[in-house]
Amino acid sequence: MDNIKVLISEKDLKKRIIELSNQISKDYENEDIFVICLLKGATYFAVDITKKLKNDVIIDFMKVSSYGSSKKTSGKVNIIYDITTNIKDKNVLIIEDIVDSGLTLNKIKEYLLQKQPKSIKTCVMLDKEARREYQFTADYIGFKIDDYFIVGYGLDYNEKYRNLPYIGYIE
Ligand code: IMP
Ligand code: MG
Repeated sequence: MDNIKVLISEKDLKKRIIELSNQISKDYENEDIFVICLLKGATYFAVDITKKLKNDVIIDFMKVSSYGSSKKTSGKVNIIYDITTNIKDKNVLIIEDIVDSGLTLNKIKEYLLQKQPKSIKTCVMLDKEARREYQFTADYIGFKIDDYFIVGYGLDYNEKYRNLPYIGYIE
């Protein structure tokens, strides 16, 4: 077991998730929301957020892998698993664990826009703004954080620690 320090406690996470869900419910009013959860990292966050939404929600999943998130290596995103439902004319809300370089969300948004949704927004649990290489601003942000390597609440280090109920960093 690595030495993991708590960055955001379970209690603070729960509180912020309620705030975010209330904001999203309010912004979409009586509209349906088509949530796209990015596997695997965003699962815990997406489950907790969607449980608190007051709208009708459809949920689907996508899994991508990004290579060379540095501009020098011209970043590419590969779709490993795609959504299986039609998003044309739907209000799409992409839920992601963390924005780092910004490559993943830039590419996914670009890809999904081709499918002609009615609207497309993004909700991220964490934002490491200082690491950005591709301009990207999420519509909903859980917490802005410094440049730590994060684990827990969906996020992994070599596939471990996703099940931690809090957000931690490896020392
Ligand atoms: P981006 O494309 O550089 O914005 O990277 C986003 C992806 O990198 C996320 O979906 C995460 O899977 C992964 N990632 C970035 N930072 C961390 C971290 O601190 N811990 C675990 N995964 C991370
Ligand atoms: Mg990810």
